[in-house]
Amino acid sequence: MAVASLRRFQSARIAEFKESVIREMTRLALKHGAVNLAQGFPDFAAPHELKLAAQEAIAQDVNQYAITWGSSPFREAIQHYYRRFYQFDVDPEREITVCCGATEGMIATLLALLNPGDEVVLFEPFYENYWPDSQLSGAVCRHVTLRPPAWTFEPDELKAAFTKRTRAVILNTPNNPTGRVFSMHEIKQIAQLCEEHDCLLITDEIYEHIVFDGERHVPPITLPGMRERCVLVNSLGKTFSVTGWRVGWVIAPPELTASIRKVHDFLTVGAAAPLQQAGVTALHFADSYFAELARGYQTKRDTLINILKSVGFVTYAPKGAYYVLVEIGGFGFKNDMEFCRHLIERRGVAAVPGSSFFFEPSDGAHLVRFCFAKKQETLEAAGERLSKLRSQL
Ligand SMILES: Cc1ncc(COP(=O)(O)O)c(C=O)c1O
Repeated sequence: MAVASLRRFQSARIAEFKESVIREMTRLALKHGAVNLAQGFPDFAAPHELKLAAQEAIAQDVNQYAITWGSSPFREAIQHYYRRFYQFDVDPEREITVCCGATEGMIATLLALLNPGDEVVLFEPFYENYWPDSQLSGAVCRHVTLRPPAWTFEPDELKAAFTKRTRAVILNTPNNPTGRVFSMHEIKQIAQLCEEHDCLLITDEIYEHIVFDGERHVPPITLPGMRERCVLVNSLGKTFSVTGWRVGWVIAPPELTASIRKVHDFLTVGAAAPLQQAGVTALHFADSYFAELARGYQTKRDTLINILKSVGFVTYAPKGAYYVLVEIGGFGFKNDMEFCRHLIERRGVAAVPGSSFFFEPSDGAHLVRFCFAKKQETLEAAGERLSKLRSQL
């Protein structure tokens, strides 16, 4: 029987899914021995103390299922953490769901709170999971464009994105891929529209501590009146350089948490118990750890920006997260895909084609994203390879 005929078993839900471009670039990078500035993970060591804490948890036999919505000590550590950083009180018994990374936090939230036909507002360019997450939930995406150089939105465009069917807005701040840290004024505009249209604001805050040039992240859930309509998604991955641990959490009002917990339980049962235990150590790290994280990343940002500028890219310096978007117009390639393939195969550097952050690929075909969560020597090695880009075109 022809293999193609097995397509009849494919769910209609995923009919429009494509392979993740970011993971495709990582695979190509491995194949061609390229310096990988594509996928967003550090190539440097996780904190020593944190690795010891995970080893100890396993040695002490924290090896069986934790409570499905998260071990008590970890949820209490999350409570303590939000008090410490934001003077924000969250009830660990009724408002926290621990899950397998922010990825599961987001999909569990959408599956729990959206109905087929509901509309979700996204800011474009957007992190590539939000669209498939919405698809799996049966929701329809509407988008609001963020425009360079500051990656701000037009308030009228935001207003126009809301309809009678709008159920939620997804806001990622600090933002991947633009590096934008949304201002309080913008967050208030979004919050006001959420109130007017009685819809949820779902925030992805995984880069909360990676902010530069004096920027400060404020969780929208802490704004007056937003407690009842915000769902906050976060994870250990970026803040503690442990993206492979897959430990995240969702904070939401009790009634919403009850629904999210139901979905989470059936999706994954729970996040790795010993890594939740180690997460208690992480969330209690001294303030200096978080300050150093931001400082270290700001130095890496500046290194990468200098490299990219010297090669001749038009760059947009990020205010947060760990990516730089650049314009590739001056290099004479047909589009971002062609450019990225050339970069990997001929120059030995991997980046992400900008089109993967847009609904209409041509809208991002002039952009490429580089990640700077890398050792100084990795960035320098990439710089060395990129320096020949123009001369060898
Ligand atoms: C904006 C954003 N949200 C979520 C994730 C995934 O987070 P996690 O690894 O905790 O699932 C990423 C990873 O790059 C991201 O950039």
